[in-house]
Amino acid sequence: MAEYAYIERFKKLGFGMFVHFGLYSLIGRGEWNLFADKVEPAKYRAHSEKFLVKKTWARELAATAKAAGCRYVTLTTRHHDGFSLYDTRGLSPFDAPHSACGRDLIAEFVAACRQCGIVPLFYHTLLDWQHPDYRDNFPAYIDYLVGSIETLCKNYGKIGGFWFDGMWDKPDENWQEDRLYGTIRQYQPEAMIINNTGLDALGQTGHREIDSVTFERGKPFRVDAGDKPIAGEVCEGITDHWGYAQNDICHKSVRELLSLLLSCRVNGCNLLLNTGLKGDGSLDELEKGIFLALGKWISANRQFIYTAVPSRLQAENAVVLEDADCYYAVIKDVPMQLDSNVSRAKNAAQVTLKTDKKILSAKWLDNGKAIKVENNSFTVCPFEYGTSLALRVAKIVLSSK
Ligand code: GLC
Repeated sequence: MAEYAYIERFKKLGFGMFVHFGLYSLIGRGEWNLFADKVEPAKYRAHSEKFLVKKTWARELAATAKAAGCRYVTLTTRHHDGFSLYDTRGLSPFDAPHSACGRDLIAEFVAACRQCGIVPLFYHTLLDWQHPDYRDNFPAYIDYLVGSIETLCKNYGKIGGFWFDGMWDKPDENWQEDRLYGTIRQYQPEAMIINNTGLDALGQTGHREIDSVTFERGKPFRVDAGDKPIAGEVCEGITDHWGYAQNDICHKSVRELLSLLLSCRVNGCNLLLNTGLKGDGSLDELEKGIFLALGKWISANRQFIYTAVPSRLQAENAVVLEDADCYYAVIKDVPMQLDSNVSRAKNAAQVTLKTDKKILSAKWLDNGKAIKVENNSFTVCPFEYGTSLALRVAKIVLSSK
């Protein structure tokens, strides 16, 4: 199905960075600040006079994404507050060129991504808390929305896709999806079209033009392909907020996030991991560190997370993915029990592959050492100094029969 090759390419991107950035980043209370804190709209709009974004923000972002092992970045071009990071070219004065920074931030973002070989995707809100037509004249609002998407399609070269969000706010309205998606297909035939189905409809498909289902903060499952192949993507935050929240200390651990990335990949889904930029466009230092730690694991494991696909092969104490010529057994997250000197682990995990074929060779990806195999089984012995028991990856070659 050559016409859907772009969907297969998206699946191979594997890991993406989700970025929330807007006027709410200045406030540091998440992207729902205007709505949740019932801020007076004029007062909220005045934040645009303080929106001074560092010249290097996009380069820092794209370089961090690259080092983290992300192959794409999905950035909020406009969020529910109605503020656009791009030049709306007359559609609305509530955009970055009319703010204190006076620049088209999406042009900067796209250029920085291209320099690093990262695919840029555009998050775009569907609902709008400030546009009067959203409330009073829905067909006119759709004209404005479609005009906005057309602007994004025409002025930034080839983009990886659109990530819509907010239809759940007015499920019974006529969103003119044929027209919206048709506009994208006209200018960007290979763009992924994603429309977040939200917390209550994880993994559900909708319109035929949708190329990937979403699992917002949810557990992925395998999406059955019908006559059109469809991708799946989990979006999750490092903290409990999407937009920058300065007092949110609920950061997930590197280990938790890697387990999530693996559970996405064994279900054939991508992981889109979020960070909220600060008001000047810089990354939060702790979140940046977490992204870099993920990148270190990914590069130590030779990046199998992009190419390997779910496998039917089962194993005890490991999950299995497969590539063209080998299998990868990822050791399950076994907690280590230390001895009284806290220098040796007492426990070990036995990994057994459930197959009639024979293991011809096995080695650890992180240090290249051969693994001793007996009867299709091997022991994962903690701890070799410098490695952990959890989430080590064994590369395995099986006999053909
Ligand atoms: C929800 C939130 C929105 C956020 C999105 C990210 O839809 O309403 O603020 O951007 O999730 O998935």
